Amino acid sequence: MDNLIVFGGKGGVGKSSISAATAVYLANYLKNKQILLISFDIAHNLSDLFEKKIGNDVTQITDNLFAIEPDPDKYAERYTGELAKKARILIKSSKIISMIPDLDVIITDSLQSKNIPLAMKNSLFFQSIIDAENPMADIGEKQMRYKGIDQDDSTPIEARKKIPAFDILICDFPPTGNMMALFEVPQDNAQRSMKFSLRVISSVQNSFNSIKKLTKWAKPATWIAKGIIKDERDEDHKLDKEEKKNLAQDILDILHDMELRSSRISSIMKGIGSLRLVSIAEKPSFEEVKRAKIMSEPYISIDGLHINRLIPENERGRSKYLDNLYNYQEKYQKLIHAEFSELKIWESHLLDHPPIGFEGLMELANNIYDNTQIEDILNPLHRILINPEEKDIKNPYEIDDFRKKWDNS
Ligand SMILES: Nc1ncnc2c1ncn2[C@@H]1O[C@H](COP(=O)(O)OP(=O)(O)OP(=O)(O)O)[C@@H](O)[C@H]1O
Ligand SMILES: [Mg+2]
Repeated sequence: MDNLIVFGGKGGVGKSSISAATAVYLANYLKNKQILLISFDIAHNLSDLFEKKIGNDVTQITDNLFAIEPDPDKYAERYTGELAKKARILIKSSKIISMIPDLDVIITDSLQSKNIPLAMKNSLFFQSIIDAENPMADIGEKQMRYKGIDQDDSTPIEARKKIPAFDILICDFPPTGNMMALFEVPQDNAQRSMKFSLRVISSVQNSFNSIKKLTKWAKPATWIAKGIIKDERDEDHKLDKEEKKNLAQDILDILHDMELRSSRISSIMKGIGSLRLVSIAEKPSFEEVKRAKIMSEPYISIDGLHINRLIPENERGRSKYLDNLYNYQEKYQKLIHAEFSELKIWESHLLDHPPIGFEGLMELANNIYDNTQIEDILNPLHRILINPEEKDIKNPYEIDDFRKKWDNS
């Protein structure tokens, strides 16, 4: 992966439209690059923008443009499902613990993907995209030591085979507050994953303690011998000491793997991530991007800012109503430029129809990137040195060709 471009800002300012327009524009100009647009907003709307059904699987739009609206729970369930399976075997192999009433319910309830922080769930998804570049990616000495997950059909390795490697990732983030939940991983990542595992351990521990109280006066072995209670241990779940130890290690490895994946994503964000703030020329949105900038600085480089939905200058003088709006926007447009003078600023007009479908998104993209070199879209502040060979990557489709590829997919 060469570029990771992220769009964030206040609700409704045009993040999704600009993300999609940028993806379409880059796919048109960078024919040799594989581009993936990811919606990280739970309220996905890429399907509406592309006028195509896009869901939890990578969907091809043209031969080099793809989109996905991932369901983070689905990705996390691969892990929680496997954890629950292992924990169930381990617990059921113990004579006393296996007698805990509703043990299955306790395990299933604790090991649910809803108990995993969103940032971690997204990391698990994100990792599957990044691993596609190198199916045997080694992200640390312990990573993939745990092989159990890969035996299942919907497992990371299987999933990686289905996902092509991408050169450019474009991410449509949710409005600022929720966007921060996606960044929250780095600092308290370890703590969060510990909390998750502790929750599981403590629910089992609590049940175990109540059983222990019971067995102070009850003698389960005698009761079992007398046939008063049944030995709940499953024939398949009778494990020797060594097997139990390995199983417990497997469980710890899965938790550790989840933790490693989260911290790896954080370092990728920090390393090559480029945040573009999106605003409109109005006070609430201006205030929001100021806050968003401060809040996201520790996690990602902020390279650019979009001022969207500006009333075109040639609309001035048509009515008092439009003139008032124009003057109001002009005031905030200037304030935004002054406040963010160190960033690359792109402006786009309020179009007379919603930027949807091939033509709509292309029109918005042309409006935004009219005078911008492709290199400057990828690397607006020239933070990353561009490989001279990469300078010639521009090899745009004839627009009719690109349109055909879109229609045929
Ligand atoms: N330049 C533009 N001209 C005309 N309409 C626009 C423009 N940009 C965005 N819109 C319209 O504004 C609405 C909001 O845009 P969009 O969904 O892209 O915003 P968002 O920031 O992603 O919103 P949310 O926070 O809800 O995800 C949409 O109806 C979209 O079609
Ligand atoms: Mg959106």
